[in-house]
Amino acid sequence: MQIRAYQPKDFERMHKICYETSSGFDTDKGKIALYATYCDYYINEDPSSCFVAVNELDEAIGYVICAPECEKYERVFKEKYAPILRKASPVRYFFHLVNEWLCRNVKKKYPAHLHIDILPEGQRMGLGTKLMDTLTNYLRENGVKGVYLVCGAGNVKGVNFYKKYGFKVYSQKFGSVTFVLDL
Ligand SMILES: CC(C)(COP(=O)(O)OP(=O)(O)OC[C@H]1O[C@@H](n2cnc3c(N)ncnc32)[C@H](O)[C@@H]1OP(=O)(O)O)[C@@H](O)C(=O)NCCC(=O)NCCS
Repeated sequence: MQIRAYQPKDFERMHKICYETSSGFDTDKGKIALYATYCDYYINEDPSSCFVAVNELDEAIGYVICAPECEKYERVFKEKYAPILRKASPVRYFFHLVNEWLCRNVKKKYPAHLHIDILPEGQRMGLGTKLMDTLTNYLRENGVKGVYLVCGAGNVKGVNFYKKYGFKVYSQKFGSVTFVLDL
């Protein structure tokens, strides 16, 4: 297992990882909403901020994906991905808007945000930590001062992982925890 930069051949595997590590997105429209919200912006618009953990066949089994600049993310997401999300799932679109509103203050000091997911067979082997090291080094080299993420409060793996990595709790509301990390 090793970590490398994202390559276009990883695209379908990224969707697979995103789907298999999520819940509640089982319909066709649900999948469209899932990929529009949690995958495609990052892969298409900020691919150099995406890193994958690969197996011995060079197949992605995990990823960390990131939007380093919140202004660009807000502008491009609103223009290209929000319409897809709104059409596929008005309810998920509403949740997205609520999340964005909850994060509006954190972005001033922590302009980047990320998502990290690893297939079950690759978990608890240190890959999440290595992916996070790779991303945070990349962000530091590019002058980014801080990164945030939102995690379900009931996601024990996620909450423990972020705390162990050094993220601090910025806020906790409506069943979600916002974590921040100074870079
Ligand atoms: C959260 C996740 C990215 C962690 O990645 P990982 O490669 O499994 O984590 P690591 O092996 O680097 O573990 C680092 C630390 O995280 C914590 N941790 C990881 N998995 C854990 C688990 N199942 N239960 C409790 N703590 C856990 C531990 O503190 C661990 O350190 P330790 O092994 O020395 O005790 C991974 O479990 C995952 O993809 N989960 C499913 C998707 C998900 O929840 N993504 C986050 C959404 S916000």
